Amino acid sequence: MKKDPAIVKLFAVPTDRWPGDALALGVYENGKPQKALARLGEGWAEEVDRVLTAGWLRGKEGESLLLSMAGGASDPRVLLLVGLGKADAITPLTLENVGARLVKAAATHGMAKLGCLISMDRHNGISPGRCVEHLAEGAWGGSYRFDRFKTKGNDSENGHQKTITLELAVKEKKMERMVQKLERLHHVCNGRFLAQNLGNLPGNLLTPEMLAAEARKMAEDLPIQVTVWNEKELKKNRMNGILAVGQGSSNPPRLIVMEYRQGGEGPLLAVVGKAVTFDSGGISLKPGAKMEEMKFDMAGGAAVFGFMHAIASMKLKVNCIGLVPAAENLPSGHAQRPGDVIETASGQWVEVINTDAEGRLILADALHHARSLAPDMIIDLATLTGACVIALGHEASAVMGFNKKMLRKLGRAGKRVGEKLWPLPLFPGYQELLKSTVADMKNVGGRDAGAITGGCFLSRFIDKKTPWAHIDIAGTAWDLSGKKPSQPKGATGVGVRLLCRFAEKELL
Ligand code: BES
Ligand code: MN
Ligand code: ZN
Repeated sequence: MKKDPAIVKLFAVPTDRWPGDALALGVYENGKPQKALARLGEGWAEEVDRVLTAGWLRGKEGESLLLSMAGGASDPRVLLLVGLGKADAITPLTLENVGARLVKAAATHGMAKLGCLISMDRHNGISPGRCVEHLAEGAWGGSYRFDRFKTKGNDSENGHQKTITLELAVKEKKMERMVQKLERLHHVCNGRFLAQNLGNLPGNLLTPEMLAAEARKMAEDLPIQVTVWNEKELKKNRMNGILAVGQGSSNPPRLIVMEYRQGGEGPLLAVVGKAVTFDSGGISLKPGAKMEEMKFDMAGGAAVFGFMHAIASMKLKVNCIGLVPAAENLPSGHAQRPGDVIETASGQWVEVINTDAEGRLILADALHHARSLAPDMIIDLATLTGACVIALGHEASAVMGFNKKMLRKLGRAGKRVGEKLWPLPLFPGYQELLKSTVADMKNVGGRDAGAITGGCFLSRFIDKKTPWAHIDIAGTAWDLSGKKPSQPKGATGVGVRLLCRFAEKELL
């Protein structure tokens, strides 16, 4: 992995004089600067007041203004005023975007080192400590680049990128703890970068076997045990769901299992992620428009990779197993057909009505395998249904499950890291939609409640006593809008932050 273009550090106020190029200070939409203005050197309060009264900056999100105080003993010499929006509307995402914009502003103005006082105050209930975290995440997130296929110098955006250091202000007393937090966060961000890198790779450059090779590579540097099942082993273990989805492609399927056990007698968490390296739909071929986006159909698996990487690098004292069924869904003379009936590893028979509902087939076998490892909780992540995007758009992932406590825990973790989850019900009535005339179930339930019937299908492969949650990330796994400063176009790495937070705080 490439080095981050943004370096995030902390500096202590008010004891330090600050030696960087400029200091950033927030302004709210009512035209008021944040309280930390009072900490600045001689003359700045009057100067900022003058500028704001003149209306040069109104404090709307996205606005910024560079002020320079010539001569005198003013410390700092240059101030970057940054719009924060309405004070009572600031969210973690606002701060993330501000963090990303700060790095961009520094680059635009040719600054190597930018300080930031925004983290000195509490914003809309978000403590200075958390503010540091959100700003840092945004700075890192916004500076992520996937430019592997851009020949150097060919693209002004990627040509000569220099490193920018962002220094965030914290109180002296809190310094030590914040440094630790920031370190932890950096591991999480790196895990997210890994998930994004994998997600952004196209189908020709990330086949199931190449994904397996990534896992083996990860095991070389980290205390993670990796097992990969090839077709022979999949056959031996009767994983006909994974095999059927992969049989149309000349890139054979794999089941990748990553084990990290550093939690002693503590609980075991199993995390399962769908990795369809490319989903054409198979014989039930998808329409051509936007089909290329189906290279992202392995985002669930990528999140599991990023998560395992993060917890192992931060040496978290937990037990986790990551399971990633990987296959490529293509039509060919070897492909499965609508009407085929397959026996999954669990012994349940499935009538394949639509070969485009392939994620649930590979997850069925992986969930069954997870179950055999006797975990205390199971979470699966999958870009499972277009219906989920219809229901929730790109704002939130859908979460389903029977265990209220589990759903609450996940909801809490998601809220804290800014990965929104919204519950959909798995009422027994929906299960009826999966009835098949010839087998135990069909793989599709029809147009109605598509995200829910996907969840219902999966629910048949877990044991009802183990808390389980299914997260449909179809609408959140990638973002090609370029609308969020902290999210460059492409894979989002959704799930990594959520799972890390969950493993750290909600496992017991
Ligand atoms: N990977 C797709 C789901 C998807 C579609 C995710 C668009 C993100 C954006 C999945 O394999 C799929 O094709 N699902 C079908 C299921 C249907 C046939 C029941 C779908 O959503 O159309
Ligand atoms: Mn599909
Ligand atoms: Zn798919």
